[in-house]
Amino acid sequence: MLQGKTIVLGVCGGIAAYKAATLTSKLTQAGATVRVIMTESAVQFVAPLTFQTLSRHHVFVDTFDEKDASVVSHINLADSADLMLIAPATANIIGKLALGLGDDMLSTTLLAATAPIWVAPAMNVHMYANPAVMHNMQTLLNRGVRFIEPGEGQLACGYVGKGRLAEPEEIVAAIVRHFTAEVPRLEGRRVLVTAGGTVERIDPVRYITNDSSGKMGYAIAAEAVRMGAKVTLVSGPTALSAPEGVELIPVQSALDMREAVLSRLDTHDLIIKAAAVADYRPASIAKQKIKKKSDAMTLELVKNPDILQEIGTLKTHQFVIGFAAETERLDEHAMDKLKRKNCDFVVGNDVSQAGAGFSGDTNVVRIYDSNGLVEALPIQSKNDVARRLLELAADRLHPDEGES
Ligand code: PMT
Repeated sequence: MLQGKTIVLGVCGGIAAYKAATLTSKLTQAGATVRVIMTESAVQFVAPLTFQTLSRHHVFVDTFDEKDASVVSHINLADSADLMLIAPATANIIGKLALGLGDDMLSTTLLAATAPIWVAPAMNVHMYANPAVMHNMQTLLNRGVRFIEPGEGQLACGYVGKGRLAEPEEIVAAIVRHFTAEVPRLEGRRVLVTAGGTVERIDPVRYITNDSSGKMGYAIAAEAVRMGAKVTLVSGPTALSAPEGVELIPVQSALDMREAVLSRLDTHDLIIKAAAVADYRPASIAKQKIKKKSDAMTLELVKNPDILQEIGTLKTHQFVIGFAAETERLDEHAMDKLKRKNCDFVVGNDVSQAGAGFSGDTNVVRIYDSNGLVEALPIQSKNDVARRLLELAADRLHPDEGES
């Protein structure tokens, strides 16, 4: 599964370094060439010979211990990498990577790398929750670095909580997914994505809208193109540029969005409704700017059509994914929306949670089907959420329904 891929594995100084030996073995068995860099601290826990024997390659520790005079090792290693993986990653390497520091073999190689970087943290529960560490991880997420969440349980320091390195099998599965996702899996598919908030006019200068930036929907549209689909993006007003290769249909109101989506329903086979559609609109739009008169003013609102619910009723062959933006009882509300709106998946996000929902570059989502939870995705970039969502959807699309 990883044949032909070179993975540069950075091992940092923590007790979980021993698990990196199993990880090296599993990555090698999956066909990858694994080149290991250990920090000086990692060497205190496991001998380089362990990794050398498992990877069948020299293990790098000291930047200046150049074994081959024809190359500069940290540049050569960085250039050779299809993927950089740090496991276990300490708070120290996460901080250095966030700040762009290069003071040892691993950090300089990371600075020189252009390959995707994956980080599997392992540390004490309070270190992991430390605002400085959280901030550094957020910075890296915003730069496209991917994280494999640590597990919860008994930690070597005696505490019980979050901070235990993900199991080697989980890390290998994430890396395999990364590479298999590079292979288009939506070729011949027509995907329609909605994004952004709708704008419901009150008068020529005023309107009702919401906090949706469009980032979630635009990330889905961009990923769907990358996976080989033809993509239509129906978008409320946003500050974003349309992703390369997408057909953009700009709309304003929920009624505009309804028309744009329903008129294209038949020609698409995957519909993803990430837009935040206004549930209500002003009963009438004043032709002229409304003048200030009395101390109070009542604005009459009428219900907008529920576009997703209509799609759920009208769908024939389409796979339909709705979103649920909730602030409480996420599982319950998301499942209720899935059933009421006849969706195949609902992506629930608790928009009151840090790093989730509106405007930011990250999200934390739970994906459901009619049987319940399919997958819970920890905090990650909206691009990564989009990629995983599309992978899951691609697995469920009927094999014969795409265009040839
Ligand atoms: O755009 P970002 O800043 O990146 O933020 C992303 C997001 C928070 C907007 C996104 O992740 C999200 O949750 N989108 C759905 C927001 C929403 O309107 O949720 P809802 O629970 O109110 O609606 C449920 C579903 O019904 C949604 O798929 C919505 O598009 C759809 N709907 C709702 C009302 C309506 N009249 N018509 C609809 O189609």
